[in-house]
Amino acid sequence: MKLLFLGPPGVGKGTQAAFVTERYGVPQVSTGDMLRAAVGKGTPLGRLAKSHMDCGGLVPDDLIIDLVRSRIAEPDCGAGFLLDGFPRTLTQAQALTAAGVEVDFVIEFWLGEVALLQRSSGRLVHLPSGRTYHMVFNPPRVSGRDDVTGEPLAQRADDRIDTARKRLELYRLHANALSGYYRARAGGADAHASCYARISATGDRHQVRDALFAVLDARVLSVLDPRLAVASTDDGGVQR
Ligand code: AP5
Repeated sequence: MKLLFLGPPGVGKGTQAAFVTERYGVPQVSTGDMLRAAVGKGTPLGRLAKSHMDCGGLVPDDLIIDLVRSRIAEPDCGAGFLLDGFPRTLTQAQALTAAGVEVDFVIEFWLGEVALLQRSSGRLVHLPSGRTYHMVFNPPRVSGRDDVTGEPLAQRADDRIDTARKRLELYRLHANALSGYYRARAGGADAHASCYARISATGDRHQVRDALFAVLDARVLSVLDPRLAVASTDDGGVQR
């Protein structure tokens, strides 16, 4: 299964990606995590990316496209993957299609601005693994420590309120073109084009997970038996 998550910063894409990885066994390909790892190692990509990331900007398309192209060519992505944080621009989406990569499912999460800023401002991250917590909504078992390794958690520099707002503005600049691109493809004549679904992220993380699994399970069933194919376009439904 090949999946792609769209949605504003802080909506919960990374949180839901962890659930999907566990249930469907596909690796999460998070451009944000890959870039933060490169920044941490001080690689040339990391040094270049840092200047864009710290101020809430986007890393140039050509660098990101190369990064994703080589990551999804790795053996663990052979049977599928979940793209989290890519594509961010229409150029990136078109490059993915041009590279012959057709995902099975595009999921777009949505949430109001106040909740988005609450989520990003309270986020805590275990930088080596990308595991994410929230001070209020999903606190670690021991304050400030990763549940698995016990290592310290950090706040992302780009979660400061002014930078988080800027990331949101930038997201909005590209959002309509991106979702329009995938909606149009899902509604077109190409039977191999992705399905598209829009899911509310307003509930707690388990409620959102259940809504997501309902959509994905229906898709998995429809692949096994095409007579079960779903065709609703409402929120939480599926557009083919
Ligand atoms: P990236 O890391 O991809 O950031 P993002 O897309 O802005 O998304 P976030 O990681 O902020 O949020 P999320 O939706 O994953 O939410 P999460 O699950 O953590 O990118 C960072 C930067 O890298 C970009 O700004 C850019 O500079 C660069 N970059 C990356 N990709 C790029 C690309 N393709 N092109 C160019 N540049 C690129 O959840 C947030 C918080 O909410 C957590 O604390 C979580 O515990 C909590 N939470 C989650 N779900 C719920 C829930 N249902 N209820 C309550 N709390 C919840």
